[in-house]
Amino acid sequence: MADLIRPGLRRVDRLWPRLTDVVARVVRWASRGANGYMLAIASVALGVVALRLGVVGRFQYLPLIPAVLIPALLASRGPTILAIGLAVMANIILIHRQELGDTIVYALSFAAIGLAVGEMAIARRSGKASSAALASELRRRDATLEAMLASTPVATLDAQGLVLNMSRPACALFRTTELEAAGRTFKDFVASFDAWAADTPGKDDSPLRRYWMARRSDGTLFPVGIRVAYVDAHSKSSRVVLTLTDLSDWHAAEARNQELSEQLNQVWRLNSLGEMAAILSHELNQPLSAAAIYMQAAQTDLARTPPVIANASRTLEMAKGQALRAGEVIRHARDLLKVGSQALKPERMTSMLLEIGPMLKLIAPAADAMIRIDIGGDNDLVMADRIPFQQAVINLVRNAVEAVSGRDRREVHVLGRSVSATHYEIRVEDSGPGVPPEEVARIFTPLTTTKADGMGLGLSVTRTIVEAHHGALTVATSPLGGAVFAFRLQRAEESQPL
Ligand SMILES: Nc1ncnc2c1ncn2[C@@H]1O[C@H](COP(=O)(O)OP(=O)(O)OP(=O)(O)O)[C@@H](O)[C@H]1O
Ligand SMILES: [Mg+2]
Repeated sequence: MADLIRPGLRRVDRLWPRLTDVVARVVRWASRGANGYMLAIASVALGVVALRLGVVGRFQYLPLIPAVLIPALLASRGPTILAIGLAVMANIILIHRQELGDTIVYALSFAAIGLAVGEMAIARRSGKASSAALASELRRRDATLEAMLASTPVATLDAQGLVLNMSRPACALFRTTELEAAGRTFKDFVASFDAWAADTPGKDDSPLRRYWMARRSDGTLFPVGIRVAYVDAHSKSSRVVLTLTDLSDWHAAEARNQELSEQLNQVWRLNSLGEMAAILSHELNQPLSAAAIYMQAAQTDLARTPPVIANASRTLEMAKGQALRAGEVIRHARDLLKVGSQALKPERMTSMLLEIGPMLKLIAPAADAMIRIDIGGDNDLVMADRIPFQQAVINLVRNAVEAVSGRDRREVHVLGRSVSATHYEIRVEDSGPGVPPEEVARIFTPLTTTKADGMGLGLSVTRTIVEAHHGALTVATSPLGGAVFAFRLQRAEESQPL
């Protein structure tokens, strides 16, 4: 007996997938447009044929039941209702009953049962469809999660701080493998990090302030940012997911900014000193030269008197020498600190301004100003002395930011464009009060300031730098309503070596 049943079962096993495939295809076909209605009409027609042949003896609605079941199982609600209607009509026309009451009762019962069966079939099908959709959504989410894990450095820890798993990018960060990392305490990688003491950082927490030193498997250290998420948000004793960020590049860039800022400050101090020297030279040269002339005269007079006066003459000679030397020292100090045209070399404007971008951003918050930098990158190779040039732009931007401070509109635009075959223009525009025409000459004078804590040196230093670049610093009214300070630099041949 078993020998007979087993091959039969095997055949059913083989045929079953094909059968379900055929049914699925028919369902797909029947759910498309008018196909369901065609199916309903065809199945009622078959039922009518069976009815005419008298296949079912006395119960005349029986051959019409499949006519309703087929569209109910394969098509949608519309075709099912059509099939019920047609079946009832066919039955009433073809079967002549004595009692009208019987006809109505049979018709209504058939319609009610048909509708109920149809609804059940439709509900079952839509349940299946939604669970299939749910399963495919779950699969999609799984795939997304896996893709995220494959591209993000993530580590999952258990309640004891042991690594449950570590994504491949996280392993690359620590130069370890998933196998090596699993089961080790996370403190082996980041000794000072405690997942249960570390709160998730707020959005204002800079990655420069919130970081930990992590250790790679080769012993080298690097800064890492860590975001913490607890699997069960209400209990810190559950698993914890750490998202890691390698901050090495960030920190290196910050160190570079710091260095540049210090360099610029130094140049600023030197330039200020140079400017001071210029003022002193101008103010002191006069009296010192006069003193030298008077002493020369005294020496001439003394030369005519007896020898004891010769000592006085020698002293005066020394005094004259010292006075002249003082003037020389002051004059020389300025020359030393001046930007020399020999220091100009081809530089990319975009690169010079990009470099001071972070410093400009540091200036802006003091006055809550918005700084927009719009530099044309075409033909931006200019002849410049990098650091002093950057200092000049910073001076102008600092003045512009101070000018817009406390005003309703606080905008500063730094614009750069190649304006001719030979020149590139830099403009610093602001929405401040502007510079009245009668003040223009005065503001460039050293030590002229309208600010309580100003030195009044910024513009004169800037002008000196611009002139050393063979340019002229001009001031006019800006399209933003305030002042615009502009100057031009000579363009370098694109073929010149950088
Ligand atoms: N963008 C501007 N809008 C309006 N006035 C300006 C602007 N830039 C400069 N000024 C005026 O020119 C004066 C001189 O500027 P300068 O930069 O030389 O010195 P300061 O800003 O006063 O002091 P510091 O020595 O700190 O730079 C300023 O005090 C200010 O009155
Ligand atoms: Mg200034």
